Amino acid sequence: MVEILSKQKLSGTVWRMRLHAPRIARKRKAGQFVILRPDGDSERIPLTIAAVDAAAGWIEIIFQVMGGTTAQLSGLSVGGSVHDLAGPLGKPTRVEKFGKVLCVGGGVGIAPLYPIISALSEAGNDVTSIIGARSKELIMLESDIAAASARLLIATDNGTHGTKGFVTDIFKTLFAAGERFDLAFVIGPVMMMKAACALTAAAGIKTYASLNPIMIDGTGMCGCCRVTVGGQTKFACVDGPEFEASEIDWDEIITRLGSYKDFEARARENCQECRLA
Ligand SMILES: Cc1cc2nc3c(=O)[nH]c(=O)nc-3n(C[C@H](O)[C@H](O)[C@H](O)COP(=O)(O)OP(=O)(O)OC[C@H]3O[C@@H](n4cnc5c(N)ncnc54)[C@H](O)[C@@H]3O)c2cc1C
Ligand code: FES
Repeated sequence: MVEILSKQKLSGTVWRMRLHAPRIARKRKAGQFVILRPDGDSERIPLTIAAVDAAAGWIEIIFQVMGGTTAQLSGLSVGGSVHDLAGPLGKPTRVEKFGKVLCVGGGVGIAPLYPIISALSEAGNDVTSIIGARSKELIMLESDIAAASARLLIATDNGTHGTKGFVTDIFKTLFAAGERFDLAFVIGPVMMMKAACALTAAAGIKTYASLNPIMIDGTGMCGCCRVTVGGQTKFACVDGPEFEASEIDWDEIITRLGSYKDFEARARENCQECRLA
C-alpha cells in the first residue's frame, strides 16, 4: 500500500497526486514512469513521474481520466492509498546541452513531457514548448510549462485557447519562418506523434518520440509493449519509452493500440468521469 499525501484537481479531468514513495523518489530520473494499481482488482497502468522530492520521500503523478482505471485513481482520497506501485521504470531521457530544443506535447502527453522540459531547461537548453489539446479545459500544466520553457505556444482543436488547430500547424509556421532546432521531443496520441515526427524529419531535426503502447508488467517479461524500431523488436517499458522517431514503425503501433478498444469502451460506459474527458 502506498499512501496518498495530496491530491489536486488541475482541470476538469486532470489530477495531480502526491504519493509516499521514498525509494522511487531517490532513484528516479526525468522520463521514467511507475506502474500502479488503484486497488487489488484494478488494471496496471503506467504514469510518468512528474516530480519528486527525495528528501521528503514523495513522488508526483499527473494524470487525465481516460477510462476505468484512471477514473478509479481519481476517486481515491488523501490519507487513503494506492494498492501497489512499481518503479522507477524505463530508460531516463538523455539530458544534456543540445542547444535549441523543440518539445511537443499533445493531450495526455503533456503530463509526461513536463519533467523532460524541466530537465532540458535545467541543463541549459533553449526550450520551445508547443502543447495542444482538443479544448482549453484539456490543456494541463500551462503555468508550470511556461515557467520551465523559454517560450510556450498553445494550440486547441476548437480554438478555445491559443491558436486554433493542431500543434503541427504551429511548427509548420515556425519552420516556414526559418526557425531551426537542434533536437525535438514529441509525446502524445500516436497519430499526432506520427504526423509531428514526419514534419520534424522533413525539417531535418533529430527527434525522439515517447511511445505509449499498452503496458502490463513494465519489466520486459509480458511482451505486451513490443514495438518495432529500426527493424528490431523492442520493449517500450525497458528499452524506451523514448525512441528515435525516424526508426519507429508507427503503423504497427497504431494497429496494436486498437486491439482493446471494445474492452476500453465497456469500461468507459460504467464511468461517469470519463464522459467529461
Ligand atoms: C510510459 C507511459 C507513461 C504515461 N504517462 C502518463 C501520464 O503521466 N499521465 C497520463 O495521464 N497518462 C499517461 N500515460 C497514459 C496512461 O497510462 C493511460 O491513459 C491509462 O493507462 C488509461 O487507462 P484507463 O483504464 O483509465 O483507460 P482505458 O479506457 O483503459 O484506456 C484509454 C487509453 O489509454 C491507453 N491505455 C490503457 N491501458 C493502458 C496500459 N495498461 N498501458 C498503457 N496504455 C494504456 C490506451 O491507449 C487506451 O486507448 C502513459 C502511458 C505510458 C505508456
Ligand atoms: S510491459 Fe510487459 S514487456 Fe513491457
